[in-house]
This record gives sequence, structure tokens and C-alpha cells, in this order.
Amino acid sequence: MKPINPEMDYYRQFQLKNYNSFKTEALAKIFCQPNTIEELRQCLKDHSNEKKLVIGSGCNLFFTKDFDGLVIHPDIKGVRLISDEEEEDEDIFIEVNASEDWDEFVAYCVERGFVGLENLSLIPGTVGAAPIQNIGAYGAEVKDVIREVVAVDMETGETISFSNAECEFAYRNSIFKRTEKYLVISVVFHLKRTFVYTPKYFDLNKELEEIAEPTIQDVRDAVIRIRQRKLPDEKVLPNAGSFFKNPYITQKQTDKILIKYPDLPAYLQKDGLIKTSAAFLIDKSGYKGKRIGDIGTYPNQPLIIVNYGSTDGNDIIRFMKEVQHAVKGTFDVELEPEVRIF
Ligand code: EPU
Repeated sequence: MKPINPEMDYYRQFQLKNYNSFKTEALAKIFCQPNTIEELRQCLKDHSNEKKLVIGSGCNLFFTKDFDGLVIHPDIKGVRLISDEEEEDEDIFIEVNASEDWDEFVAYCVERGFVGLENLSLIPGTVGAAPIQNIGAYGAEVKDVIREVVAVDMETGETISFSNAECEFAYRNSIFKRTEKYLVISVVFHLKRTFVYTPKYFDLNKELEEIAEPTIQDVRDAVIRIRQRKLPDEKVLPNAGSFFKNPYITQKQTDKILIKYPDLPAYLQKDGLIKTSAAFLIDKSGYKGKRIGDIGTYPNQPLIIVNYGSTDGNDIIRFMKEVQHAVKGTFDVELEPEVRIF
């Protein structure tokens, strides 16, 4: 084991531009990068009175001002197979430390035939960020394969294990996102060995229609192809994935919209609300591929706001408000950001 570094490096007035995929500029009063849980605890102890922000890969947040507190960028890696790989058990349990790259971990599972994460291929970010906003794509959500999340309470330094139910998962939400009180250190996944493709999502079914019995590798490859066609690479065009959540609206609102837009995507939920498509609403409000100054929506997927060169997060806010205003004016629907804004 690595010894605790008693003189862990703390950086002051640290530039966060390379720690948010939108590439906005902001200074952190203090910044640190713990490599072990011991270092992390030390870092929390040394700055118990500071406001704290944890950044994984920074793919789902941006800054509008400097951060007056401690930014923690953990670098704690490792994968531990709890189940015996040689045994052919149906259930596979695997613990992964938070700083591992999400898609590398998905690839690792797909190669070994561990089933459950293939639809979530190519989502940018770290493993630790996955439960925070309960990442989802192509009919799957990460909550369906999480057994447990291990996190440190940033106030007390105590390690707490959250069962799936205790994570309070919801659409792009969890106890971790709501409280901002915990730092995720590892996630235990419950995967399976048997795979039968179940059609769940139109785009994915279409991509796989020529294959009679898709394998998980086929599903991963198909998801990667769709994402590469539709979504901009944040390294080329800074963005943070879907900017808004897909809204939930009432049946009455839906009926009203359907009169003028009969092709509105509408999915009835258990609670009676209708989940609709933010991309559709933005598109029909005239904001698909629209650019104002350095900020715009991506032409292939208007739910994604892209940054063509600004370093000021307030430019993104101004554009966001304009999109929200347009959608509100056209459909009387409020769009709520999915991206975290600091
Ligand atoms: N649409 C349009 N115009 C367009 C593009 C899409 O009207 O130009 C409409 C279409 O009706 C389409 C619908 O939007 O059927 C849905 O589009 P898409 O399948 O791309 O999915 P999404 O609902 O816009 C969600 C997630 C994505 C995830 C995809 C695929 C949210 C906020 N976003 O987007 O997640 O990859 O489904 O499952 O739930 C992310 O969270 O960062 C993210 C990219």
C-alpha cells in the first residue's frame, strides 16, 4: 500500500478549464488530487470548513464563476471481481473504484461476457459519476445493475455503504446528486452471464435489425455507432452531453401539443405523467443547430448545447435561457437543466 503523503499537494487559485468538458474558465480557491482513500480523508480533514466540490472527469458540469472552496479531483482506481471468474455462476459481482473510466469498464465487462452495461457504452465520464446522475441510454439505466455504492461523508469522513434502495435513484438523479454531501469511492455492480437481446429502444433495434441474435458485443458496437453519428465529441466540440432533462408533462398538456404536433414522442409513466422529448421540443421551437455567438445546439441532436469557443459559462447560461424561453413560448413546457452549473 502507498504511504499517506503528509505533504499532499494543495494548489491555490487553480484553473479549472481542463476539468470541465465545456471548457469554461474558473479558479478553484484550493484544488487537490488524492490518490488513496487515506489521502482523501486527510484532504477533507485539512479543509473541514471549506465548501467542497468533487470533480470526476467534469463531463456533466460547467462554471459561471470561481469556486470559493476546495475542489477534489480523486484519482483512485482499481477493479475487484467479487465473483469467481472461472466459475460459471449466473450472477457476477464486481467492485470498481470511482476514478476508473466508465467506457473502459464497460468494454472490460463486454469482453468477458458480463451482461448489463452494454447499452451504456461510450458515455463519457468516470465510474463514480455513473450513480450520481443515474446515467441512462437506449432503454437502460445504471440503477438496474448497481448493488451498492460506497461513499465518504464529506463532513464526517465516515465511509458509508448505500444499498440500491438507499441511493434513491430516479431519472438522472440520486441521493448523491440531491445532497452533494457524499463522495463516491466505489460502486458494486451486479451483472449477469446470460444474454438475450430484448428490443427496448427504436434507434437501437433499427441498428441491429440485420442481426438475428445480437450478442452483447453487437449491442455495444451498435450503440457506439449511433452515439458517434448523433453526439459531438467533447474533445473536438466542448459540450456536456444532454443539456436538459426530458420533461414530464400532464396528459392535458400532451393532448394540446398533439393537435398541432401529432408526432410528439410521448411515453406514459406509471404515475400518469407523460415523458416527452426535449430534443423534439427544442427542434420544433426553431433551435435545432442554432448558434448565437460562440454557443449553439448541435445540428444532429439539439438537446446538446455545444461551445464553439467561449471561456465564459455565463454565455452558456444566456443561451440556455433563450432555449428555455422559446420552448416555454411554443409549448408551455419548462425545460430543466440536466447539467450541473456552478
Ligand atoms: N429528436 C428530434 N429532433 C432531433 C433529434 C431528436 O425531434 O434532431 C427527437 C426524436 O423524436 C427522437 C427523440 O428526440 O426520437 C429522442 O432522441 P434520442 O434518441 O437522441 O434521445 P434523447 O431522449 O434526446 C436521451 C438521453 C441521452 C441518451 C439518449 C439515448 C436524456 C436527457 N438524454 O436523449 O443521454 O444518450 O436518450 O438513449 O435523457 C446524456 O444524458 O448526456 C445523454 C446523451
